[in-house]
Amino acid sequence: MPPNIKTTKDIKIPKDPLERVIGQKRAVKIAKLAAKQGRHLLLVGPPGIGKSMLAQALALHIPKPDHQVNVVHNPQNPERPFIEILNEKQLKNENLKKEILRGKIISPKEAPTFVGERMGFRCAQCGSLSSDRMRACPGCGTNKYGQIRRHSKNSPFGDIITEVFDISTIGPEDVIQTTRVGKSGRDEAVIYERIKGGRIRVLEQEVIEKVRKLNKNLRKKVLIPLKRNPFILATGASETELLGDVRHDPYGGHPEIGTQPYKRVVAGAIHEAHEGVLFVDELPHLEYLQNFILTAMQEKKFPIVGKNPGSTGASVVVKNVPCDFIFAGACNINELNKILPPLRSRIAGGGYEVLLDTTMPDTPENRDKMQQFIAQEIYIDGKIPHATSEGIEEIITVAGKRALKIDNTPQALTTRFRDLSGLIRFAGDLAVSEQSEFIEKLHVKKALYQAKPIEVQIKERYGSMWKGAGKDSFLETDEEGAEGSYR
Ligand SMILES: Nc1ncnc2c1ncn2[C@@H]1O[C@H](COP(=O)(O)OP(=O)(O)O)[C@@H](O)[C@H]1O
Ligand SMILES: [Mg+2]
Repeated sequence: MPPNIKTTKDIKIPKDPLERVIGQKRAVKIAKLAAKQGRHLLLVGPPGIGKSMLAQALALHIPKPDHQVNVVHNPQNPERPFIEILNEKQLKNENLKKEILRGKIISPKEAPTFVGERMGFRCAQCGSLSSDRMRACPGCGTNKYGQIRRHSKNSPFGDIITEVFDISTIGPEDVIQTTRVGKSGRDEAVIYERIKGGRIRVLEQEVIEKVRKLNKNLRKKVLIPLKRNPFILATGASETELLGDVRHDPYGGHPEIGTQPYKRVVAGAIHEAHEGVLFVDELPHLEYLQNFILTAMQEKKFPIVGKNPGSTGASVVVKNVPCDFIFAGACNINELNKILPPLRSRIAGGGYEVLLDTTMPDTPENRDKMQQFIAQEIYIDGKIPHATSEGIEEIITVAGKRALKIDNTPQALTTRFRDLSGLIRFAGDLAVSEQSEFIEKLHVKKALYQAKPIEVQIKERYGSMWKGAGKDSFLETDEEGAEGSYR
């Protein structure tokens, strides 16, 4: 141990998550290559040696996603929505357009009296202004909402509100449409909208027209946002989670009362992983769904269809939804044969199959890595104290013994880290319960003794698993004659 290390507090933890993966030199090298070249990965080995860690770190080494995917309303055939892919620049332009159409923001004081009253800013009794969240007027105490006179909604312009706003998201008095005499002397429509922060947005005729046009042309929903997590976990996913779905609408997508099909489209994990990493732990457990992953990898796009045959979503199809991802699959050695052969050959052909290491040579360099591992685990846990150099030394001794016992490798340290991490936590909890400032050698020794698997504990107490099982019911063993009557 370097003399300057007194406790795990003195150990630097690398920022790069790939550098935190210990004892898997070859796998880390390949993961870096896969990230750089956009290749797929199959990680094979027993649990707890860093497969998930590697896949996660890989996702942080690839370029940031630079496209947003939208589902766009198809006016000719609403059940066949379009896909639109926008890059960052195009997105900025769109937002700019929306910004221009934002209208004017005013305070409730500046709004016409009846607008202030209906939105709950102004008391119709005494005229004083207050927050729309206060029901009772602070001026005279009357219920502001109890006095609202309903205005007729008849307007020479018809009901513009449903064209300008998404009516499913606005409350009853959030938006008020009215008419006033414009600059030209003619009647014009005006819309007042209650917005956050107790303010009101005013949309005048000119802006309303533009918003109307924009909405007609651009009725769409963000399916995959530009800013997203590039790491998608699809372990144990169902078909809909993996491939997406179109939700049911009890009104069958009716243009007025229903929800348009494009709004009901839900992305699957393969789509969310577009320009990122799709990680499937325990890949063989996906069974037949592996076929779809293979197709998605080959085509780099996959349609979204309603999966429930009894639902109104079943008739909706969105073609060409992009899903260009790096695939990372993980699997135990004894389940390798349950991975679909064409999927394996696809990975091997466009990427790498890596067998992870279960031990690493016991060298000074790897002992330092082991220290780093212990420091990392303490850091991640956050609830246990640092370990002294003697505590560290003891954990490394355990790692050496396990390499020999489990993997039959002398002069080595185990890389079955999940188990070691359990030992560190247990020792840490003991240190906490003893109000010790550090994890000491003794805590590790005690933890090792107490953290025995339950089978071992039963054997030690009762002599065998079988005898232990008899202890489940006191009737069978403790009451006289009971044993006989149960046979
Ligand atoms: N190679 C490793 N280097 C550092 N820590 C590891 C390593 N492997 C496992 N761990 C620790 O064990 C935890 C579980 O590891 P994980 O990556 O999920 O294993 P796997 O996917 O192989 O089952 C990790 O979060 C980490 O704390
Ligand atoms: Mg895992």
